[in-house]
Amino acid sequence: MTYSTIAGLGFYVPENVVTNQDLTQYMETSDAWIRERTGIEQRRYFTYGKDTNASMATAASRMAIDRAGLQPSDIQLIVYATTTPDYYFPGSGFLMQRELGLEGVGVIDIRNQCSGFIYALSIADQFIKTGMYKTVLVVGSEIQSTWLNKSTEGRNVAVIFGDGAGAAVLQATDDPEHRLLSTHLHADGRYAEELYVREPGSSRPTRAATKEMVDEGGFDVSMNGSAVLKHALTRFPEVIQEALQANGYQPEDISLLIPHQANLRISENVRQQLNLPPERVFNNIQRYGNTTAASLPIALTEAWEQGRIRSGDLICLAAFGSGFTWASALIKY
Ligand code: COA
Repeated sequence: MTYSTIAGLGFYVPENVVTNQDLTQYMETSDAWIRERTGIEQRRYFTYGKDTNASMATAASRMAIDRAGLQPSDIQLIVYATTTPDYYFPGSGFLMQRELGLEGVGVIDIRNQCSGFIYALSIADQFIKTGMYKTVLVVGSEIQSTWLNKSTEGRNVAVIFGDGAGAAVLQATDDPEHRLLSTHLHADGRYAEELYVREPGSSRPTRAATKEMVDEGGFDVSMNGSAVLKHALTRFPEVIQEALQANGYQPEDISLLIPHQANLRISENVRQQLNLPPERVFNNIQRYGNTTAASLPIALTEAWEQGRIRSGDLICLAAFGSGFTWASALIKY
């Protein structure tokens, strides 16, 4: 039986640190409000002219490939999750493929917002299990700072999000003790407009951005914060339990839960619902904010770098986000 295992992890965050205090230059907010409601202390914003969605992903991928003891030329497929591509099309996966010098290698571009990385991981896993590919690069990368309305009007959204990229190299293995056990993917399009960016949409009377579209906030992230919070608090534990049950485990068997970094309050609530001690839940939202598809690979990489993941550990990844989408992955590391 062929399984997939994580052979290498990497991440990149832009050097520009934006603190909560820095945001008070643009909007009426406070460090205390942001920390109390979200746990976020700072986030990174890309530097125009230096970072692109694809260049950040390339840096993260090079690190992951190197740590796997491989060369870029060993990659047989790229699965690239982003909500904020450099171009409307083609996706940033193609730009990263070019930067890595991997002309001819297949690229699958995934959106799926905050659940994007687990969807990407699941797709890579299926290709490996069927024997089609042996080495697949899975990426999450976002530049969200340009999309945020940084005035007081947009503050409920703007304070949450940041930029960054993370990557994992998945490789085929026949070792049942160190592998991706299962992935679980869900979505409910009835809530599509609870967290979305409407423009530039195709089903419009005109291709041009009108003043009306801009004034109505069509290019801004629109979020119903309380609806997102309510659904996340149900879906996170549900999809984690689903992964555990599928593999005959209980919450107490989890060595480390890495939730998508949406909000520290959500992570803390989920931890309590699962009755896990604080040291078994990984959080780094304090330093990066919510980096959407990049959040899980950045957190997974940092957890590994900090020695919080050891060989044989049971690692659970879980995500919830726009769509609504939610997903989990259980890994025997
Ligand atoms: N700074 C200061 N005040 C702010 C603010 C900010 N950044 N954002 C909103 N406020 C104000 C509001 O205007 C409101 O003022 P009012 O009472 O005078 O009307 C007050 O704070 C409360 O706003 P509300 O939106 O009800 O706050 P909340 O307690 O629900 O917290 C979120 C807002 C966004 C932090 C919360 O809804 C949340 O975490 N939702 C989930 C979001 C999420 O995880 N998104 C990503 C999913 S992948």
